[in-house]
Order: sequence, then C-alpha cells, then structure tokens
Amino acid sequence: MRRKLVIGNWKMNGSRVANAELLAALKEAGPSVAEVAVCAPAPYLADVALSLQGASISWGAQDCSAFESGAYTGEVSASMLAEFGCRYVLVGHSERRAFHAESDQLVADKAKAALAHKLTPVVCVGETLAEREAGQTEAVVKRQLSAVIHTLAHCISQVVVAYEPVWAIGTGKTASPEQAQAVHALLRAQLKAATEKAGEMKILYGGSVKADNAATLFAQPDIDGGLIGGAALKAADFTAICRAAA
Ligand code: PGA
Repeated sequence: MRRKLVIGNWKMNGSRVANAELLAALKEAGPSVAEVAVCAPAPYLADVALSLQGASISWGAQDCSAFESGAYTGEVSASMLAEFGCRYVLVGHSERRAFHAESDQLVADKAKAALAHKLTPVVCVGETLAEREAGQTEAVVKRQLSAVIHTLAHCISQVVVAYEPVWAIGTGKTASPEQAQAVHALLRAQLKAATEKAGEMKILYGGSVKADNAATLFAQPDIDGGLIGGAALKAADFTAICRAAA
C-alpha cells in the first residue's frame, strides 16, 4: 500500500507574514494520515524550514539548477537546498517548461542533480489542451517521462511523478477521475518497464484539485496524492485536501 502524498506548490505567492500564518494553521491542524509537504519560493525556504522543525510537514523547493555550482546567476543548486534540510524539489513544472523554455532533457538533468543531493525530485509531466485535443496526450507524457527514465536509469524508482494536465492548472477545470487515472495507469506501465519498484512509486495528480474533488481523485488506483496550487494557499482548503488523502 503506497502512502498518499500531498504537496502544496505555493508558486510565486506569499510573504513572511502570510507564510507564518499559513504554516501555523497547518501545524495546528495536526498530523495527517497522508504525508504532507509544502514547496515555497526560494527566499522563504529557511523561514519555512525553521517553522516546520519538529512538525510532521516536510518542505521542498519549486526548482533547482541542473548544475552543481558556478556562473549561473539567479540559480539555486540542489546542494544549497540540501544544506537546509530540503526534502522535495519540483522539476519540470509546466510553468517552467512554458515560461523558461525548459526542455525534457534539462528537466531530467535537474532531477539527477536533485537525487545526487538526496532530494526527492517531483517530476511534473502533462499535456496542453491543444495536445489533448490532437490525441497526443499519451505521446507527450511518455516523451517527458522517458527523458527522465533514460537519464536516471535504475535511480528512477527514487522520484515522485506528478501528472498535471496543463489545461487543468489554475483553470478550475479538473481532469475527471477517469481521465486522470487513465494517464496515471499509462505512466505506471512506463515505469514498470523501467524498474521493478514501479508499484511502490508515487504518481501525484495536479490541476485544480480542491477540497470537494480531492477524495474521488485520490480514490483512483494509480493516484497516490496531489500537487496542489491555488488551494494550498488557504489553510482550511489544504487541510481538507490532506484529510481527503487519508
Ligand atoms: P492548481 O495548480 O492547483 O492551482 O491548478 C497546480 C500546480 O500547478 O501545481
């Protein structure tokens, strides 16, 4: 039985005051049956780490560099994140693929850099609306995951995969549980061909997950939790989603 995982992706939101309030409320809500983590903007990570000391919530970053160190202005390395006790790092979120032209190979290299410092990369894959309508969903997500499988080889079992259809992110249009499950099953089959540990790997769903649709999504056999954007910024909503993953 895979333990469910719910990760809040705060994106470029928050302030020191707002983050402190949000984390206080999440801690107040108490431990969850599911594993819970929050991915905060880089400047706040040290604050978040301090606030979550001793709490049952872990934390992660939203991106990391594919490089170890050096002349990469503006980038944050996996080793820097690891120094602060970072647990997860999102790689290949569709907003990074779209706004920062991240290629499948760069995303795979970032996952490799993260693993080298014992961070768990959360590899995001997902098709755009145009790709779905053109019947390319399977080809797109398989291509995205395949770059990571080839680059990590036997270490692939150490990543978390997040299926996030681009058309469902921040739009209020959630994939139906059946649509999401169908893609999760494809991804699981692809992982099975690469590692005998595929059955233990977590595949999260993301894209307009809310308190009222989380339980049915999480009840699907290959959906092991969620990557939550907008609803992760409100303590009551995020807590309800974490409870739905019990
Ligand atoms: P959303 O974002 O929940 O606001 O749709 C999810 C994500 O981008 O990770």
